[in-house]
Amino acid sequence: MAKKKVQKKASKSRTSGRSLRSTRGLSRGFADVLIGLQYGDEGKARIVDMLAKDYDVIARFNGGANAGHTIETKDGGKVALNQVPSGIFYPEKILYIGSGCVVNVEKLAIEIEKLKNIKGAGGKPMKIDLSKRLRISCQASVIQPHHLLIDAETGKTIGTTKNGIGPCYADKALRMDGDRLLNIKLGDLLDDPQLYFKKIRENYLAVCGKYDGGKGLTPAHADLIIATMESFFNRIKDYIEPDTLFLEKKAQKGAKILFEGAQSIMLDITKGSVPFVTSSNTVTAAAYVGGDLSPAYHRKTIGVAKAIMSRVGNGPFASEFGGERSEKYCMATGGDGMSKYPQAVEAKYDIEKLLSSGDYFDIGVALRVLSYEYGTVSARPRRVGMFDLVQLKYAILMNGVNELMINKCDMLNVFARTKRGVLPIVNGYKVDGQTIDYVPGTVKAYYNVKADVAYKKCFSADISGVRKFAKLPKELQGLLKEIESFCGCRIAGVGVGPEREQFVRI
Ligand code: GDP
Ligand code: IMO
Ligand code: MG
Repeated sequence: MAKKKVQKKASKSRTSGRSLRSTRGLSRGFADVLIGLQYGDEGKARIVDMLAKDYDVIARFNGGANAGHTIETKDGGKVALNQVPSGIFYPEKILYIGSGCVVNVEKLAIEIEKLKNIKGAGGKPMKIDLSKRLRISCQASVIQPHHLLIDAETGKTIGTTKNGIGPCYADKALRMDGDRLLNIKLGDLLDDPQLYFKKIRENYLAVCGKYDGGKGLTPAHADLIIATMESFFNRIKDYIEPDTLFLEKKAQKGAKILFEGAQSIMLDITKGSVPFVTSSNTVTAAAYVGGDLSPAYHRKTIGVAKAIMSRVGNGPFASEFGGERSEKYCMATGGDGMSKYPQAVEAKYDIEKLLSSGDYFDIGVALRVLSYEYGTVSARPRRVGMFDLVQLKYAILMNGVNELMINKCDMLNVFARTKRGVLPIVNGYKVDGQTIDYVPGTVKAYYNVKADVAYKKCFSADISGVRKFAKLPKELQGLLKEIESFCGCRIAGVGVGPEREQFVRI
């Protein structure tokens, strides 16, 4: 009886909650947030592409052209997106770039143009036209030419993507330098292009002497750069949305919104392995700031991980194959500043020899080659590592993840070809001999972590054609159940290949 009373009370308060929502017009719409749970490149875009059919709006809320989001379709379509949300293959879906993003107008104009010409099955152009679908918040900050100059010089140690992301967010936080306006928004350029391009020019001239990399940049260079930027701006200005309640109004009318995170928790400016991170907040909560919608619409968080981890750029990576040696190798550059070991070099390596080596560094190189782990934006070799469940659990807890998707499970059979033939999984962290159950908050402590590795039975079957959980190898089924119980989160699907259909919903 007492139980019934509690239930009645709970259901009454839920109902009154609902009526409060409907009096505010929040009747039917909702938002889900999809984020990366590791170091980026978890395969977020392929999940967004798969889920997009059930939503009305796909929206980005953070980052910019530093993101490289790959989508592959069965009919041979493959595209790497940087700034456009990954709902492109559904002509009726709205794509939205929120105020939390930083926009490179030149790259965006080129990306939009490129989409008109990408080819699908049999080389047929797919003619993806965004003119009636893409809206960009007028409050999104503009990547200015001086941001690119500064990033090229100051981002070397972190190993940034050189997209001017850090300097742009820094200027956003600084707001002004005396009378000089630093944070210029897309809406400013729309309101008064003459005035705000003049300000962009001033910003360029103020720093180009210090950051010109010895090129001797002059006001004449500035004129050319600004004129080019202006012409690209003219190509994207019709996409700028002046209505700051754009998404709110859509949600009020019942729109289902999917927020597409860029980067990942470990690259978050506050929660990641600072300073080896990007310059935006990448976590669930950030979606409702940078995505221009009230958190009242939040329904669930979908987290994306991959079974073989990767990281681009410097910074701690506790489960890295080959540890520090791998970090140095992957970050090595030649005299031209380009990677010393790009895909073309590694493609010539003897993979079976590397796999039969007793050295994890070699196994990591082989895994990178076999799973094409090279940066979408920078083409650098991605550092690769074992599936780290301590880090995954941290990411799930910090983001309130309701559903977990794990990509690249098809690649786990590679371990059957190694000398030991077992699957290594990290399930514990030790610092100075003490067990910890969290991701350390400082780089020094994280570099000091010793990962506990558990060796699981491996399967050798090719699972790229499997579409049902029951048909997955027993070893993988068991591993997935173990991960669910370790992390306390439901696994909703696993990737068994890069194509849209190569996925097992659970
Ligand atoms: P994102 O930045 O999180 O969207 O991920 P990226 O597109 O940068 O990198 C993910 C890469 O893994 C892409 O090349 C995808 O095609 C590929 N990929 C995604 N899921 C799977 C999978 O389940 N198996 C395999 N083999 N590749 C996958
Ligand atoms: P997606 O969305 C992987 C990394 C860079 C560098 C650091 C800072 O495709 O998962 P930045 O240019 O943002 O200042 O670089 O963050 N990085 C990413 N790594 N995936 C990404 O995006 C990344 N975006 C930035 O390599 O280490
Ligand atoms: Mg990527």
